[in-house]
Amino acid sequence: MILNSQVAAYLERLSPPRDPLLAEMEAYAAEHNVPIAGAETSALLAMLARGCDAHRVLEIGMAIGYTALQLARVLPADGKVVSLEIDPNMAAIARGFLKRDPAGRRVEVIRGDAKETIVRLQEAFDLVFIDAEKAGYPVYVNLALESLRQHGMIVIDNLLMGGRVAAGKGDAHWSQRSVDTVVTLNRRLAEDPKVEFVLMPLGDGVGLVQAR
Ligand SMILES: C[S@@+](CC[C@H](N)C(=O)[O-])C[C@H]1O[C@@H](n2cnc3c(N)ncnc32)[C@H](O)[C@@H]1O
Repeated sequence: MILNSQVAAYLERLSPPRDPLLAEMEAYAAEHNVPIAGAETSALLAMLARGCDAHRVLEIGMAIGYTALQLARVLPADGKVVSLEIDPNMAAIARGFLKRDPAGRRVEVIRGDAKETIVRLQEAFDLVFIDAEKAGYPVYVNLALESLRQHGMIVIDNLLMGGRVAAGKGDAHWSQRSVDTVVTLNRRLAEDPKVEFVLMPLGDGVGLVQAR
């Protein structure tokens, strides 16, 4: 959480109520300590997907399928979210939730290490959402840039890590290695003349990357 608690509570009050399935997924994540994107980050993702008329979305790190479902719901009938997840248990739980929503059939779950899976994917994507292990972020950004359609966009979560990135210091939650990786990545993206990079203090820090 980057914002102070008063602003965060205010934003939460403005968030629309979740439908029963999303509310159940949020409750499951809270009970089992599964990190999922916040309501604003998910809403932004869905809005970006709709806004760029996305047909193909790649998600790196899906956990229980919370953001995958919200992305799938805004895609056209022939659209697809390809979600990569290394943890077989998470992938199974995600499949169970996704089966309960008509949009869930637009999500293709691929189990395995995303770094190996992505290179085997033979398609281009309109939107790539990076939300897996932080040490892999630099690799994911490079691979995502290669697989983006023209004017496509990359969305990256946790680029501020609750303030740890700006402080340059890890804590009990964010390891020093993760913080160092993201500090270096943010600087690289900010200085790269080939991309536009916007880092927003939304949720845990959401970055948008687009090739110039
Ligand atoms: C923050 S959670 C994803 C949350 C999800 N995007 C959401 O907001 O609903 C990160 C997930 O990435 C997965 N993950 C970590 N390393 C991975 C890797 N190398 N390849 C694929 N998935 C990975 C973890 O198992 C975890 O479920």
